[in-house]
Amino acid sequence: MFDKILVPLDCSKFAENSLNVAIEVAKKFNSQLFLLHVFPAHDEYRRAGITGKIRARKGAHGAAKISEEIPKVCTDLLANSKRKVAAEGVPVETLLKEGHIVNKILETIIQGGFDLVIMGARGQSVIKNLLLGSVSNGVIRHASCSVLVAKE
Ligand SMILES: Nc1ncnc2c1ncn2[C@@H]1O[C@H](COP(=O)(O)OP(=O)(O)O)[C@@H](O)[C@H]1O
Ligand SMILES: [Mg+2]
Repeated sequence: MFDKILVPLDCSKFAENSLNVAIEVAKKFNSQLFLLHVFPAHDEYRRAGITGKIRARKGAHGAAKISEEIPKVCTDLLANSKRKVAAEGVPVETLLKEGHIVNKILETIIQGGFDLVIMGARGQSVIKNLLLGSVSNGVIRHASCSVLVAKE
């Protein structure tokens, strides 16, 4: 049970907390963690609001730099998260994909034969009064496997 756990990560505190939950679950079930970040397709970039860091850099360097700089933030997120998991002695891989966030997560669940997803209830959106974000809502509704949603 729970041999392979998918952990979709954005740059939010919620996702970081869900990673801590995933580490504890993985220790109990001898699971392998797969950390996934989806670099949003261009048309949903603004809505996804991937990270405040990018906006700050965009201001410093001009809009043309965005597409070159986002992947660095994404790879940093995955590399740092992977290091943290590995330091706990849990087997870990990283996956970086580009496209529609929910669709890519759902596709990965099926292609990878995952039996559990652990993710944050919310992410980086500035709207604070929602119980679930659009990504967590979409994954819970459509996922073919169980989903553990960390609420804080
Ligand atoms: N680009 C992404 N790649 C992978 N996982 C993501 C991405 N964006 C959000 N998630 C996951 O979905 C959770 C909920 O985020 P989301 O639904 O986007 O909330 P919000 O609307 O507050 O941004 C996050 O904690 C994270 O686990
Ligand atoms: Mg979001």
